[in-house]
Amino acid sequence: MTEKKSEMASSLQGSMKAVSKSATHGEPKIGVAEFMAIAKRFGFSQDALEKIRAIASQDDLGEGPFLANYYSGLPETCVQAFEHSARELFGVKYALAVSSGTASLHCAFIAAGVGPGREVICPAIGFYATAAAVVQSNGIPVFCDVDESLGMDPTKLEKLITPRTVAIAPTHVMGSVANLEPIMAIAKKHGLKVIEDCAQSCGATYRGKLVGTIGDIGCFSISAYKIVGGGEAGLLITNDDTLWARANQQAECGGLWRPVRFAPPRWDGELFNGTNYRLSELEAAVDTVQMGKVLAIQQRFNHVKQRILRKLDTFQGITPQKLNDATGEVGYLLRFYPPNGDLARLIVQDLKARGINANCRPADAPPDWHLSAYMYPVTEMRGPTEDNCPFRCPIYLERGGKAHYAASDCPISVDLYERLVSISLNQWYSDEDCDNLGAVLNQVLGIHCKQDDTAPNWL
Ligand SMILES: Cc1ncc(COP(=O)(O)O)c(C=O)c1O
Repeated sequence: MTEKKSEMASSLQGSMKAVSKSATHGEPKIGVAEFMAIAKRFGFSQDALEKIRAIASQDDLGEGPFLANYYSGLPETCVQAFEHSARELFGVKYALAVSSGTASLHCAFIAAGVGPGREVICPAIGFYATAAAVVQSNGIPVFCDVDESLGMDPTKLEKLITPRTVAIAPTHVMGSVANLEPIMAIAKKHGLKVIEDCAQSCGATYRGKLVGTIGDIGCFSISAYKIVGGGEAGLLITNDDTLWARANQQAECGGLWRPVRFAPPRWDGELFNGTNYRLSELEAAVDTVQMGKVLAIQQRFNHVKQRILRKLDTFQGITPQKLNDATGEVGYLLRFYPPNGDLARLIVQDLKARGINANCRPADAPPDWHLSAYMYPVTEMRGPTEDNCPFRCPIYLERGGKAHYAASDCPISVDLYERLVSISLNQWYSDEDCDNLGAVLNQVLGIHCKQDDTAPNWL
């Protein structure tokens, strides 16, 4: 120790502390006011809010909560609890909580090796976010037409595979499930990854297995619009160590997920420039509770839908949506195809007049990004700059790729979408409600179509 330093050390001994202890007892950064902002967002009355404030103000919050997943000092943060509950629910090795379903897909595609010059096969019906996440990964989405289940048609899949294909990304559409067995067999034959987009069907099962656990990665949106979700969140599940690590790197470029965050790469492909898709603690707190409800929700919806379907007569020209697993789907929509859009609209009008929440595409319907034909940012091949990467990426062109999109690529999806009738069901319907709904549906279909025992069955 130099003379000067030892002088300083001795002068500090026994001296007064620069900051008094009481200075840490001011208002915490996050305290009652923030808590009340959340209570207000729940929609409590003014009277209730005042009572909540009175109770909340009684406790000493100390330094207040630390609302981030990392460095919280808690034995288990809300994000960790959410991931923990997802691992248990799905019976998987890894669950990664992220900020949205789109983020989970982006992480999945990056993890699976999607990048310049590579293609991913996406379904023609689902939501644009799947294809968008491929493009965000600098890959090219290739659309596969659907069958009457509205899921990817496995018989159309193989001819879309090229040396550039990396993955297949079937979407489980609106509570139903994609026909995964043949899709998995084709993927295996060609050495491709399967990324299941389960955003619309969380809790559904295919042949006894929860969707998301069958492919290499399962992606979920846990948003307010989905079967379970608070505001905005996403979830990625996998059993694969490498995919998990790479998905983490994409989700969390600060390296906080690593045992030693700033250590050099431990293996090839571990480190690259990811982004930040971390989930907030507040969102995770809500989503953990939501996740705990999903199996009961699936059972209630499935019971309701099956009971109604069993009541239905069969009619000439009415094709029920094909169900790849009738007992596994979540069943919040009952769907069928009349022979054309005009008849679909008449049937919907009559159902609505009888109090049934039915929908179809209006005659002058605007574009809809649930159908590939209308996914303009993809089909118009728009990049954020005029170079239009990745569609015109030289690497893609060098590898023989030629991005091309036309509505005629997936004609079945366009045709089915135009004449699709969807009836929204309620998980809380009593058996009597189901029987009444079935009777009214029979009545309305009977007005427009001839009852026919040889027509396709509902189940
Ligand atoms: C099939 C599908 N995939 C992905 C997403 C994107 O989820 P998020 O809105 O959470 O990003 C959605 C959302 O509507 C979806 O329906």
